[in-house]
Amino acid sequence: MTPPLLTSPTAFASLPQPTGAAGAAARPVLYDNHGRPLEYVRLAVTDRCNLRCFYCMPEQGIKYLPKQELLTYEEMERLVALLAGLGVRKVRLTGGEPFVRRDLVPFMDRLTQIPGIEELTLTTNGVLTAPHVADMARMGVKAVNLSLDTLDRARFASITRRDELPRVMDTFYALLAAGIRVKINAVVMDGQNTQDLLPLAELTRELPVDVRFIEEMPFNGGSHEATPATLPWNYHRIREHLELNLGTLTPVPTRPGDTASHYTVAGHQGRLGIIAAYSRTFCGTCNRLRLTAEGGLKTCLYDQGVLDLRALLRGGASDAEVVAALSAAFRNRAANGFEAESQRPLHQLSFESMSTIGG
Ligand code: 5AD
Ligand code: SF4
Repeated sequence: MTPPLLTSPTAFASLPQPTGAAGAAARPVLYDNHGRPLEYVRLAVTDRCNLRCFYCMPEQGIKYLPKQELLTYEEMERLVALLAGLGVRKVRLTGGEPFVRRDLVPFMDRLTQIPGIEELTLTTNGVLTAPHVADMARMGVKAVNLSLDTLDRARFASITRRDELPRVMDTFYALLAAGIRVKINAVVMDGQNTQDLLPLAELTRELPVDVRFIEEMPFNGGSHEATPATLPWNYHRIREHLELNLGTLTPVPTRPGDTASHYTVAGHQGRLGIIAAYSRTFCGTCNRLRLTAEGGLKTCLYDQGVLDLRALLRGGASDAEVVAALSAAFRNRAANGFEAESQRPLHQLSFESMSTIGG
């Protein structure tokens, strides 16, 4: 039996419920076939990037999409408005590097005007970001995820294949000064930056920042061999390493939809986080959709795209038709990243890059 489209199934009462104003005019919420609500969309605004991170793409880069194959800002705004009507309240811009796309700030301004969108955030590598921090503060951006895998300039240059650490640090300090919460994302790579975990973690001692360590995933655009099934630095090992050196990590209760497990350390102002992106421990409450830069819909990071929204939009679909297609896709999700991976027609995950998946 097909469940009704917009509903709050009592069987899943433990999952987050609509947070309509004072509970009166409750927001619509679309639940998937596993009882998880749709709340959050990650929008890749470009597949281009000004870095060449080892874990994301090969040195020569990936084959970029021609401009006409990218969704236009207008198309993205239309999709976000329709998704807001289905319950989405949070949008994260990703890429590639979002600030590589022209006129991003006016687009962000327009997104904040869409009824129902309560939170706009962004994941950036920080190279081009500092000049836009004041605009982000003005439009109410509360937090920014900054990708930063080392504080060592030489290692930064070797991991990202560009000598841009100073500009990234400018962004870091500009965000702090503007009162925008910084969440550092550091990918943990065996034999490359494990000596950087502690210096990065140390940032939380004096600064109110989150430093989150991410398990390396295989989406590297063919940059190197696929991640081994037994990841050398999985979330257990990362936690052990931090705890051994910093003292007890006290878990902060997770909220549904969180991908990071967060921890506090006595005497530290900021928090530590670990994201089990490869072990996939967080799928049970996944509340998100992803739109790739070319308008592909992903209902899981590990699926290969389940709907060609660009074709639908450019084929003249009505709003009702687009909503029906989005809803159908969300109501047919894999239970978790392992199931999504097993359903891929093309198995090799390393053919993909996070810069096209959308971070
Ligand atoms: N494994 C883990 N994280 C990755 N990212 C990019 N590629 C990978 C990968 N192969 C991270 C970036 C960014 C986030 C959106 O995804 O560092 O912070
Ligand atoms: Fe660019 Fe992010 Fe990929 Fe690095 S991880 S190459 S910053 S898209």
